[in-house]
Amino acid sequence: MGRGSVRPENVMAIPRRPAPRGPNSSGPGSSYGLLLNALPDPVLMLGADGAIHYANFAAENFFAASADYLCTRRLDDVVPADSPLLSLVDQVRGTGHSVYEYGVTVATPRMRGRFVAIQVSPVPETVGAVAVTLRERSITDRIDHQLTHRSAARSVTGMAAVLAHEIKNPLSGIRGAAQLLEQNASAADRKLTELICDEADRICALVDRMEVFSEKRGLERDAVNIHRVLEHVRRLGESGFARNIRFIENYDPSLPPVHGNRDQLIQVFLNLVKNAAEAAPKKGGEIVLSTAYQHGVRMAVPGSATRMDLPLMVSVQDNGSGIAEDLHSCLFDPFVTTKSGGTGLGLALVAKIINDHGGIIDFDSQPKRTVFRVRLPMFPEEAPET
Ligand SMILES: Nc1ncnc2c1ncn2[C@@H]1O[C@H](COP(=O)(O)OP(=O)(O)OP(=O)(O)O)[C@@H](O)[C@H]1O
Ligand SMILES: [Mg+2]
Repeated sequence: MGRGSVRPENVMAIPRRPAPRGPNSSGPGSSYGLLLNALPDPVLMLGADGAIHYANFAAENFFAASADYLCTRRLDDVVPADSPLLSLVDQVRGTGHSVYEYGVTVATPRMRGRFVAIQVSPVPETVGAVAVTLRERSITDRIDHQLTHRSAARSVTGMAAVLAHEIKNPLSGIRGAAQLLEQNASAADRKLTELICDEADRICALVDRMEVFSEKRGLERDAVNIHRVLEHVRRLGESGFARNIRFIENYDPSLPPVHGNRDQLIQVFLNLVKNAAEAAPKKGGEIVLSTAYQHGVRMAVPGSATRMDLPLMVSVQDNGSGIAEDLHSCLFDPFVTTKSGGTGLGLALVAKIINDHGGIIDFDSQPKRTVFRVRLPMFPEEAPET
C-alpha cells in the first residue's frame, strides 16, 4: 500500500502537537509529552496522509525547525522525495510491521546529510499512522565503529600475510638452531635453549592466529542451526575456560537456520563466550545465551545499493564488571586488550567473520550486564541443516 492509499474513513484523528492535550496525549505539557521530549532521539508521529502530527524536542533540533512549523507540514515537505525515510514509512504502512534500518543518510534542505538508524512502527488503533524514531548516536555509532573495523581488518590482512612469510620462516630456523645447541648444552644452558623454543612457539602461535585475517577464500555458507553452534561452544566452555560459570539458555526454538559457515560461527561465539567467562566473577558468574527473530532489521551491503535483512539475533551476556568506557570506540580493533596474556585479536576476528557474513555486531556494557548482539542473515530457502 502506497502513501495516500489509506481511505480517509479509516483514519482516526490525531491531535497535532500545538493543540491542547488530554492526559493521554503526547502534547508538550502531558506526562507523555514530557517523557518524549526528554528522549535524546528524534521522534515523529505521522498521520495516514503523511502529515506530521507530533515532533519532540530532539526532532526539532534534528530537522532544525520548530514543532509548530513541522506540525503544519507533511513528511515529504520536510525531506526530499527520494529520501529513504519516505519509502520506509510506505513499507510500514503496506506491511503493518515495524522496520529498523541501519546506516541511512537523512538530509533536508535545512541540514546536510546525517547518518542515522531509523525505526518506523505502526501506531496501533490509528490506521495508517506511524511513529518514526531516528537514532544518531548509540547503536549507529557502534555499528559505524564496527564498520570502520573493515578498514582495520584490511590493514591487518596485509600485515598478517607479511608476518606469516617474514617471521615464521626465520623462526623455524631459530628454533632448529636452539634444538641443536640443546644437545651439547649444560643443564643451566638447556634452560635457556628451552626458553628460546618456548618463545619461538608462542610467536608462531600468534602468527598462526593472525593468518586467519589473510584468508582470501570465499566464504562457504550453508544452512546452520545456530543452537547447535551455541551448544557446542557451551560444552567446550564448560569443560575448560568456563568451568565455574552458570549458563542460561534463552532460545527461540522456531528460529530458522543462519546463512553462514558453521566453523567460523563457532569461532565467533567461542571468542564471545570466552571473553564473557573471563569477565564474569569467579563466584556467581553467569552467561546468558539468547536467540530471537527480529523482524525488519536491515543493513546496507557495502559497495551496492542492496540492503540485507538481518532477522536472526544471537546475544551473549555476562554479569562481569563491564567494558571500560575508553575501550568502547576501539574494542574491535586488533591488539586492543586489557589482559596480561591476551592478544587482543579475539574481537577483531569476530568482527571480521561477522562482516564476511554481511552481519553486524554491537554491544551494550554496564557493570553486571555486558551484552554482545550479533545479527545475521537467514538461510534463503528450505535446506538440510549442517
Ligand atoms: N564481555 C566482556 N566484558 C568486559 N570486557 C570485555 C568483554 N569482552 C571484551 N572485553 C574487553 O575487550 C578486550 C578485547 O577483547 P579481545 O577478545 O579482542 O581480546 P582479549 O580477550 O584481550 O585477548 P584474546 O582474545 O586474545 O584472549 C578485552 O581485553 C577486554 O578488556
Ligand atoms: Mg578474547
